[in-house]
Amino acid sequence: MNTCSSISELQTILLPFRNTNRKIVLVPTMGFLHEGHLQLIRRAKELGDVAVVSIFVNPTQFSPTEDFSQYPRDIERDKQLAEKAGCDVLFIPSNEELYPNGYLTYVDVYEMNSVLEGKFRPTHFRGVTTIVLKLFNIVQPKVALFGQKDAQQSVIVKKMVRDLHLPVTIEILPTVREHDGLAMSSRNVYLTEQQRSDASVLFQSLQFAKKKIETGETNSHRIINEMKTMIEAKKDTAIDYIEIVDSETLQHLSTIEKGKTILIPLAVRFGATRLIDNILITT
Ligand code: PAF
Repeated sequence: MNTCSSISELQTILLPFRNTNRKIVLVPTMGFLHEGHLQLIRRAKELGDVAVVSIFVNPTQFSPTEDFSQYPRDIERDKQLAEKAGCDVLFIPSNEELYPNGYLTYVDVYEMNSVLEGKFRPTHFRGVTTIVLKLFNIVQPKVALFGQKDAQQSVIVKKMVRDLHLPVTIEILPTVREHDGLAMSSRNVYLTEQQRSDASVLFQSLQFAKKKIETGETNSHRIINEMKTMIEAKKDTAIDYIEIVDSETLQHLSTIEKGKTILIPLAVRFGATRLIDNILITT
């Protein structure tokens, strides 16, 4: 595995692959890799001739009150895990490399960036789309892989790719879960033992909603209320949102119709730790 931190070094490594038209596949990450990331890396290796993984805790997607400085980091462990999963090139740029002094350019996918997560994190997706576009330009992958866990991010990145005619295919892999259903996340390490055990209620509530819909419930409001009751039964929880939306437009659906793919995203705080999860349901 090649490891590099500068854009010019990365270009030198990738040049022979580009010149021979070999397939570059990118897995963008913020590090502190878990099984969810490793599945993306294994898939990248399977799909392409060269699997590039980026590790960059992107400051522009954190607001000043969020956990940028505390975000978990363990580069040595990440290097070993990435290599074992099949990473060929590990790109670990510095802040100065990606946002040099005087940096001024941002990308916004309007409307979609201000609903759901965007209501609570108004500048988050601008940071995500900006860094993802920068990484696409730097790496020039044929395919880029993301996890379904960040459902809104996936929808927004796909929209940016369509709107800006970017020559990259986006593939989304299913959420990887712990044995009790909790979605894997680098932020799970923040949870206390009690919160960690309570947090499985998120998956249970999503499964409950799926069952309700499969057995004919069409009223979103009723489903959401029952999910809220389940989650609020756990101590120290605060629900930011639970919504039922169209999986492509992210528009709210008050009635669940047949023949649609709907997304139920949620964000819940357990003490100071904010978790997100979602389920995709085809009716
Ligand atoms: O999903 C993430 O880890 C990040 O949002 C991403 C896509 C690497 C951009 O910083």
